[in-house]
Amino acid sequence: MSNPSQLSTEVANRRTFAIISHPDAGKTTITEKVLLFGQAIQRAGTVKGKKSGQHAKSDWMEMEKERGISVTTSVMQFPYHGSLINLLDTPGHEDFSEDTYRTLTAVDSCLMVIDSAKGVEARTIKLMEVTRLRDTPIITFMNKLDRETRDPVDLMDEVERVLNIACAPITWPIGMGKSFKGVYHLLRDEVILYHTGQGHMIQEERIIKGLDNPELETALGGYAAELRDEVELVKGASHQFDQQAFLAGELTPVFFGTALGNFGVDHMLDGLVEWAPVPQPRQTDQCLVQPEDENFSAFVFKIQANMDPQHRDRVAFLRIVSGQYAPGMKARHVRLGKDVRFSDALTFMAGDRERAEEAFAGDIIGLHNHGTIQLGDTFTSGADMKFTGIPNFAPELFRRIRLKDPLKAKQLQKGLIQLSEEGAVQLFRPLRNNDLIVGAVGVLQFDVVVSRLKTEYKVEAIYEPINVSTARWVICSDERKLDEFKRKNNDNLALDGANQLAYIAPTMVNLSLAQERYPDIEFHKTREH
Ligand code: G4P
Repeated sequence: MSNPSQLSTEVANRRTFAIISHPDAGKTTITEKVLLFGQAIQRAGTVKGKKSGQHAKSDWMEMEKERGISVTTSVMQFPYHGSLINLLDTPGHEDFSEDTYRTLTAVDSCLMVIDSAKGVEARTIKLMEVTRLRDTPIITFMNKLDRETRDPVDLMDEVERVLNIACAPITWPIGMGKSFKGVYHLLRDEVILYHTGQGHMIQEERIIKGLDNPELETALGGYAAELRDEVELVKGASHQFDQQAFLAGELTPVFFGTALGNFGVDHMLDGLVEWAPVPQPRQTDQCLVQPEDENFSAFVFKIQANMDPQHRDRVAFLRIVSGQYAPGMKARHVRLGKDVRFSDALTFMAGDRERAEEAFAGDIIGLHNHGTIQLGDTFTSGADMKFTGIPNFAPELFRRIRLKDPLKAKQLQKGLIQLSEEGAVQLFRPLRNNDLIVGAVGVLQFDVVVSRLKTEYKVEAIYEPINVSTARWVICSDERKLDEFKRKNNDNLALDGANQLAYIAPTMVNLSLAQERYPDIEFHKTREH
């Protein structure tokens, strides 16, 4: 075990972040470049391992192949300029799900990637809403400057207006599309020149120091004078970077570049290392846990199931909040009140480097889970407590689920409750009938559930459409008022997988009316585990 000063050094070195973006904005491409800078990979997706983890690793590789998704790329740890960076993958596209939202509860900062031709898009708005729950600091990367994009001032205005966060440009683009020349770094007072066709490697930086430097004319031609004027304007009209405002989630430093051309990604990484918060303390029902606390503590933010019927194993992802993980250590599974020994947790160091299997506050570890671990569970080697802030999110898609064989109703219910505890899907049981309604954030969740019900619970189920468009968890401290609400709204009420009361509405208008009519009832978009 480490001593306290080693622990604080390890904590101070770490940055744990995730990327939020709309599909196709360039998240995958940026991830590849980021790993290239971390020298973690020779080619994208290669994650090599550690001696002692060989066995576990190969099992997982096998599983990944079968399922076509990657456990090891869910978390990528790599060194960058003396810091150790954890990049958590946020499932996107078809596999967009509640996991995507919940991953954001396990990071200390986010990188927002925007397609500069398109600006702020729908998924980004949703994900930003989730980061707001914890006022997570946001760094912005305006991508695809090698294409014709929108005006950069326009883009920043849109971010400020739509996402309600102040923008502080750190770099400023020179030209765009075929005439993209590079960026001016406002803080370093440097022009960094871009050369096409070198996106696959780390480029040697061509830097011209100082805006007044006559070399600019040679390098940029007519763009030099334009750049000077523009920078003058931008400096006058935009926000200056302010560390406190950034940490409070009120201001975002903005970088411009092209992920495909591997230009600007390193400027962003430099900003991340310099400004992004180190692993932050987390709230429990008892106290605020500091990362330097020597007692190990962690919470489960994601459970990844294996779809292969031969392996019913799953992996639970834990964010370490305090202390250190070492193989063989013991910790208490607080909900079960049981001590468990961690024998073969997965750690996620990418690259060729061999290292001891250890992990510190800020890191993620994966535990093999045979059904005893649920979303939101707390593990600790100290006194019992429970981390808060790992919620369920109100689903946006709903279907009624029905059995092919009506005799298996019990198994179906059991399966759905377990899958909802694990966070694979949400279950709602209306008060007025025996329907089983499943709710999801992404459509793939529905397919996953039917397939897992079949392989793990031996029940064949099918979906039917249902007229529900939104759900809110309802709370009211006044029991009399709650009773009245329940009486009058019985048709729209349901119990979720954990027997919490929820209002399910056919339309958003319906929900607004209920909210107006019952001002004493709280309608929540999230529910704590
Ligand atoms: P995502 O993970 O956010 O969905 O985006 P991804 O990185 O897969 O990028 C989406 C598309 O945008 C890809 O093209 C990718 O090559 C392209 N792209 C990413 N960054 C840049 C950039 O800086 N400039 C330009 N011009 N394109 C960029 P694709 O044609 O959909 O896929 P592929 O066939 O190139 O893989």
